Amino acid sequence: MSITIRTVKGSIIKDSRGKDTVRAEIVTTKGALFAGAVPSGQSVGGSEIKTQDPVDAVDTIDTHIRGAFEGKTFSSIDEFDSAISSLSSFNSIHIGANAHLPVSIAATHALARSYNLPTWQYISEITGIRPSIPTPMMVMIEGGKHGAFQGVTWQEFLLNAPVDSGIQFLTQLTKILDTKKITYTPGVEGGISIDVESNDQALELFLHVFHDSAHSHTFSIDCAATHSPISSQDLNTLTSNQSLMSIEDPASEEEWDSWSDITKRYGSKILIVGDDLTTTNYDRLHKAIDLRACNALIIKPNQIGSVSQTLKTARLAHRAHIKMIVSHRAGETTDTFIADLGVGIGALSIKSGAPTQKERIAKYMRLEQIKKEM
Ligand code: PGA
Ligand code: ZN
Repeated sequence: MSITIRTVKGSIIKDSRGKDTVRAEIVTTKGALFAGAVPSGQSVGGSEIKTQDPVDAVDTIDTHIRGAFEGKTFSSIDEFDSAISSLSSFNSIHIGANAHLPVSIAATHALARSYNLPTWQYISEITGIRPSIPTPMMVMIEGGKHGAFQGVTWQEFLLNAPVDSGIQFLTQLTKILDTKKITYTPGVEGGISIDVESNDQALELFLHVFHDSAHSHTFSIDCAATHSPISSQDLNTLTSNQSLMSIEDPASEEEWDSWSDITKRYGSKILIVGDDLTTTNYDRLHKAIDLRACNALIIKPNQIGSVSQTLKTARLAHRAHIKMIVSHRAGETTDTFIADLGVGIGALSIKSGAPTQKERIAKYMRLEQIKKEM
């Protein structure tokens, strides 16, 4: 099976923060249209693939990519992505992740359709990974670079549960904040940013609602320690909680020794999740596996810039029994590709923010649709 490209077109759209980002469309010679859109991060890892200004990225799609691809036939996403990477302009003009990825997502959908498969199933077949539905990992309290106040430096306090439980959690949390007269505002990803003095106070409020919820859910913390370090004492206290499932970025992105120490100390009990550490990059994950630096990782396609590179990293994680958590970014679109991706690579969880913004809910709803397709 294959696709022949009639045309490729880029456009500027607004992300969930009102900032410009890129959407791409591919029309095949059969007349079918496929689209992909790219999000962007607010706390960006140092080794993420570089992006272009969105207007330049659209220009890259409309000139360099379109010019080289019209009339061309592709039978796999690897072939398609390598054709972009080997464009003579790829290095000279630095085709950014935000030009390459939306086209790559559109091509993945088109290829899946050529096999008459839903995208999640196509991904599962080309990776050889058994599909499964990931659990929502929803941010409830936002701090650090995603928060509006200084006191809370941990970036995300997350609930691992069905979407409805996330909605109930947020309702409960705002009730308590109102009762205690604590100031709060919406966070970047639809959770709540609260004006308290410390991470401990935020954790206490979070756990108060968590324990009241009477379900056997778990929770997770994204420290985003590249941007604001966490002390070993705080790490000790946090990991002593029996309901903690995972800690993301508990050390800065180049502190490989600290990562290995933390994984050795806590890795048998909880998941130590690389995000800024690994940036969905095959070589960095390989190093992390060699050093036993983490036992789980975040998969964000725009960190590495194409679907095929994302799948290459996912295959390595799968082989090495590293758990995967597929994730959105701070600035999101309504594109739902990561839901299909998460199912296709058998991810344990999906981070798509709080179920209060349409860009976040779209992914959770796509999962519901996939459940029916299965
Ligand atoms: P980002 O945050 O999209 O701003 O990088 C998400 C995360 O760190 O997990
Ligand atoms: Zn993170």
